[in-house]
Amino acid sequence: MKFSNEFLFGAATAAYQVEGAWDQDGKGITNWDEFTKIPGKTFEGTNGDVAVDHYNRYKEDIALMAEMGLESYRFSISWARILPNGTGKINQKGIDFYNKLINECLKHGIVPFVTLYHWDLPLPLEKDGSWLNKKTVDAYVEYAKVCFEAFGDRVKHFITFNETVVFTALGYLTGAHPPGITNDPKKYFQATHNVFYAHARALIEYKKLNQYGEIGLSHVFSPAFSIDDSEENQFAQLHANQFNTNWFYDPILLGRYPEYVVHELEKLGYVPEWTQEELDTIAQAAPLNDFMGLNYYQPQRVEKIDSSFQSKELTRENSTGSPGNPSFDGVYRTVKMDDKRYTKWDWEISPEGFVSGLKMLKEQYGQIKLYITENGLGDEDPIIEGEICDIPRINFINDHLVAVKAAIDNGVNIKGYYAWSAIDLLSWLNGYKKQYGFIYVDHQNGLERKKKASFHWFKDVIATRGENL
Ligand code: BG6
Repeated sequence: MKFSNEFLFGAATAAYQVEGAWDQDGKGITNWDEFTKIPGKTFEGTNGDVAVDHYNRYKEDIALMAEMGLESYRFSISWARILPNGTGKINQKGIDFYNKLINECLKHGIVPFVTLYHWDLPLPLEKDGSWLNKKTVDAYVEYAKVCFEAFGDRVKHFITFNETVVFTALGYLTGAHPPGITNDPKKYFQATHNVFYAHARALIEYKKLNQYGEIGLSHVFSPAFSIDDSEENQFAQLHANQFNTNWFYDPILLGRYPEYVVHELEKLGYVPEWTQEELDTIAQAAPLNDFMGLNYYQPQRVEKIDSSFQSKELTRENSTGSPGNPSFDGVYRTVKMDDKRYTKWDWEISPEGFVSGLKMLKEQYGQIKLYITENGLGDEDPIIEGEICDIPRINFINDHLVAVKAAIDNGVNIKGYYAWSAIDLLSWLNGYKKQYGFIYVDHQNGLERKKKASFHWFKDVIATRGENL
């Protein structure tokens, strides 16, 4: 099996997780700069002040990516480097940094794939209501335009937002991300709508510039499957997919909200405050969407519950993606199953779920263009005689690339695969302990970089276009 020559083999990172340099060269403070300093919010108090210092070592990192044969690098721009206060005055040094990063990629023949928002919001906007305030939408559109104008001559792939469900659900339901609000579904749905509206407006602005590139957004892809054939658990599957997939994918791809969810929200009193102009803009933008990015780690196994179900406490540990939590409306819960495989952090390993989920997606949305913008294994990598032997990661990525190929053979239109992550980085809630990269960073030794076993393996996969998978 070989991937076509136009298929992009890449790897990804996000600004807060790699850059460090939190106050260097005029960068403004962000929600995450503040949130990680609140005791108990992150694993062992870790934060991204220094991260892996990609800001100062990007040349070395890009050279390693080039050595690996990486065809594309997905990274995010830190809004607060470009507009330290969120709006208004532009920080030229921030523009200069991303110009250097982009040019370094291009020098090595690496296609830059740029995410505009991977969760780090300038602090003044956070304080002014974050994604609940429609002014944040205006500010985002202003920021996006600055980026299109500054970088769009060389960047031909833009992602507007990364994983809306994560930063809104953790921000307003579990409180594990800023602004740290718990159990407020009304705010959660409002924030999601405001993000979809911001995405739509950014798309319209991008298309006006005629830059002949492509633009889309990346969502979590976590298809729900019932734990058995019972009618009630089949219902749980439908309900979970409506809320976790359709609510997020329909407005982007179809330009409208799923009727089922809107109806449920009406009953619960959680329908976002939206205007006709906003709904029209979302509808107008849907056909302008060039692709959808999917971040796939694991599926969900779901089971119907009733009001007697006892929820776990809302802690950071219970918000890190392992199964067991009820849905916000108490209709179903996610389940850890005896016959499935799991990572050390209890994330299910399921390339089969990936293939089935992609089939479901094609049935619902047709042959939309897809990139797998994240997929990878979080692990504590074994070090044997100084070598990083991340064989479980090799197996994980191997099996998921085989799944991607199977989906392509089934007619799913996938144009690229980005492993998460290019280099070891800061996990928002799990610190540096949970590693994902092809490149190891030695925190005991001045952040020295080292190639892992997976580095050499992925290099061979790319060179042979996956022929030996
Ligand atoms: C995705 C995010 O949700 O999952 C990444 O886009 C994140 O930023 C990745 O690092 C893995 O999550 P975690 O919690 O294992 O670090």
